[in-house]
Amino acid sequence: MADKVTLPSISTVLNSPTEASFMMSEQERLDWLHVMHMSLLNPSHDDLIMQHLAKVHASGRRSKVLDVGTGTGTWAVSLALRHPFADVIGIDINWSNFTNAHLPHGNVDFSTVDVTQTLPWTSFFDIVHVKSMLMDIPYYPQLIRRLSETLRPGGMIILIESELSYESVQGPPSSVVEAWSEALKRALAAKNTDVGLPRRLDTTVAATGFFSPQFFFQEIGCPVGAYMKGECMVQANLAFLLSLPYPFRTIDSTTFPESQTLLRAGQIQAHVLRTSLHRLVCNRIDHAERATLLSLGEACVQQLMAPDTPYLQRLFAVYAYKKAQPPTQAVTTHPGRAATSVASLVQS
Ligand SMILES: C[S@@+](CC[C@H](N)C(=O)[O-])C[C@H]1O[C@@H](n2cnc3c(N)ncnc32)[C@H](O)[C@@H]1O
Repeated sequence: MADKVTLPSISTVLNSPTEASFMMSEQERLDWLHVMHMSLLNPSHDDLIMQHLAKVHASGRRSKVLDVGTGTGTWAVSLALRHPFADVIGIDINWSNFTNAHLPHGNVDFSTVDVTQTLPWTSFFDIVHVKSMLMDIPYYPQLIRRLSETLRPGGMIILIESELSYESVQGPPSSVVEAWSEALKRALAAKNTDVGLPRRLDTTVAATGFFSPQFFFQEIGCPVGAYMKGECMVQANLAFLLSLPYPFRTIDSTTFPESQTLLRAGQIQAHVLRTSLHRLVCNRIDHAERATLLSLGEACVQQLMAPDTPYLQRLFAVYAYKKAQPPTQAVTTHPGRAATSVASLVQS
C-alpha cells in the first residue's frame, strides 16, 4: 500500500557508510516488497479485484475476502480501506511482523489460523489472496485445493509468487549467481519446497480442475539491485494464460504512471535483497548447508548489485475463478489454453 509505507530517502540509504551491512527488519522488508509488487502488478491487480467486488456488491450483499499469511496485514488493511462493503479477514500463525494496529471501518479482522490444517470456511469467500507463501508451504498445490474449498462458486483466487533465482538481462547469469541458485534449489528440495513452482503457477492452478480454464496471468521481471538508477529499466509484461514466449515490454514513466515508485523500490531492493538472502538461508535451510549458502550468498549479492550487471527476478501472478461445479474426477492435464482479455474476463 503505497500511501502507508514511508519510503526513506534513497540517497540517505545508498550513501550510508554502513550500506554494506544494511539489514532490514522483516517488517520493513515485507513492506518494501509490498510496494514493489503492487507497483508492478497494478493497475491490473486492483482493477480485477475492484471489478469482482463490484459485481458482488451490485447483487446486494457484502463481499468476503481472505488474506492468507497476512504478515504485516498491509494488503488486507489496504483492501478494507478501499472497499468499505468488503469484509476482510487476514490469517497468519505468527504476528511478529504485524504493523497495522489502527484498523479502518471495522471491516477488517485478523485471526490465527494455520492454512496447512482444515480451514473453518466452506464456499464462503469471494476472493482469497496469497502472496509470497512458497517458502512457508510445502506441497503448494494442496494449499490451492484447500483454499478453493473456502471460495464461493465464481470466487477468485489470487496467487502471487516470485522465483527465488535471478536471471541476467544480458545473457547467462554469472557462475556465482548460478551456483547460489543451484545450491538453494538443492537445499529447498530436501524440505519439499518446489522452487520451480512460481513458473508453473498457472498450470498448477489449471491442473486442480477447480478453476475456470480462462484466467488472468501476469509475469513480470522485477529489477534487482542498482541498475535502475537513472532510467527505469524494468521490463514487464501482461500475458494471458500460456501464450509463451512472454513478450516483455519495457516500461517507462510515460507508459507506466507509477514508475517513480517502482524506481525507488528497485533502488532499495539492494537492501531488500541482502536481507532476503540472509533470512532465507538462516530461517529455512538446515544447518549443514547453511555455511556454503551464506558464503556464496554475499558474493551473489555483490554480483547482483553491480550497476553493470542487470539482473531480474520473475514475479508471477494468477487470478483464477472457481468453477460453479467441482470436477468429477482429479484433473491431471492442462484443460486447454485460450487467450482472453481483462475486459472480457471482468465483464463475463
Ligand atoms: C513471506 S511472509 C508474506 C507475508 C505477506 N503475504 C506479504 O506478501 O507481505 C509469509 C507469511 O506467511 C505466514 N505463514 C507461514 N506459514 C503459515 C501457515 N501455515 N498458516 C498461515 N500463515 C502462515 C508467516 O507467518 C508470514 O507472515
